[in-house]
Amino acid sequence: MTKLFINIKELVQVRTEPVSYVSGEEMKVLPTLKNAYLLVKDGLIADFGSMDSCPEISGAKVIDVRGKMILPAWCDSHTHIVFAGNREGEFVDRINGLSYEEIAQRGGGILNSAKILNETSEDELYRQSAVRLEEIMKLGTGAVEIKSGYGLTVEGELKMLRVIKRLKESYPLEIKATFLGAHAIPAKYKEDKSDYLQMLIDEVLPVIAEEKLAEYIDIFCETGYFSVEDTELILKAGQKYGLQPKVHVNQFNSIGGVQASVKYNALSVDHLEELKDEDIEALRNSTAMPVALPGCSFFLGIPYTPARRIIDAGLPLALATDYNPGSAPSGDMNFAVSAACVKMKMNPEEAINAATINAAYAMGVEKSLGSITIGKKANLILTKKINSYGFIPYSFAGNHIEKVYLNGEGI
Ligand code: NIG
Ligand code: FE
Repeated sequence: MTKLFINIKELVQVRTEPVSYVSGEEMKVLPTLKNAYLLVKDGLIADFGSMDSCPEISGAKVIDVRGKMILPAWCDSHTHIVFAGNREGEFVDRINGLSYEEIAQRGGGILNSAKILNETSEDELYRQSAVRLEEIMKLGTGAVEIKSGYGLTVEGELKMLRVIKRLKESYPLEIKATFLGAHAIPAKYKEDKSDYLQMLIDEVLPVIAEEKLAEYIDIFCETGYFSVEDTELILKAGQKYGLQPKVHVNQFNSIGGVQASVKYNALSVDHLEELKDEDIEALRNSTAMPVALPGCSFFLGIPYTPARRIIDAGLPLALATDYNPGSAPSGDMNFAVSAACVKMKMNPEEAINAATINAAYAMGVEKSLGSITIGKKANLILTKKINSYGFIPYSFAGNHIEKVYLNGEGI
């Protein structure tokens, strides 16, 4: 159906000339159109402009949104929303003084989630994950990347990826899948992690390629998990099957994961709470998008990704939620935008660019999502009556969304 939104107080992230992403100083510029109209046809953005030149479209459903704003829906380029059960017990353990690392060393953490997932049927895993997907759609997310990594067995990893495929087929938001078999070392392989990696390469990757279960490949490159050497091995194996890297790097330590990711043409490098000058240098001449996950820093009480150092070095930055049961049990992109402003000293223009166009790039959907551009998908956030777009990060943890549209349809 054709829809004509009229009297839009401000149409945000308007890009007549499409851009792939914005970096450095450009991130401070968020193009908008005040008192605007927006035409949506067949699920796509067909036209927009000032109300002074608003066309009459016969047969169009006219929606008067006076006092409200429209933004492109958020893109969440880094999540782990397919998981079973939760880790509320570990949350309390951390409140009582244990660290995330200590919990992992006791066999909790990712291994805890993997145990529950392997005991859960595919249908039940689908049901639990669908609840979270529906939740984030209502919070304004119009595209989401989802990782495997809580299976850590051939069957478990494939089960997760098949669930992601079913979600893709059943929901209107854009979904991309990432294979993160190398998320933690299963207890059984503790003494020989190379056997585990070889199993992923020999037994899981070929099935992923055959059933087209993933677009991207990831590994947790971190002290106590996987080394730079392991990272190169996995990224190289993924490359053979056309899986581009999106890599967990520098969450607790900077050990060379950024450089390895850049070497294998990563689409994004995610976390970066710890960042050396040489990491910034490695990113300068690359096309990898740095991705910050402020919800994880908030929940674990670890440093926030140094956004100012990254942006002031002329680099781009994207924001994502990292929605997962251990380090970030929230998929609220509105909170990520708010926390980026409050804790990472990004201004609202930078944060909104980071959560829309740059986030779209970080999951490979920038040609069809992430800005108000003719021909892109009409995945939109209609706000309640608010003063300015800056009110969204300012009035943190509030709900400023009136309605979300995916492919032009209200959800
Ligand atoms: O991105 N750091 C690795 N993976 C997740 C956490 C996984 C978990 O604790 O379950 C993250 O923070
Ligand atoms: Fe993550």
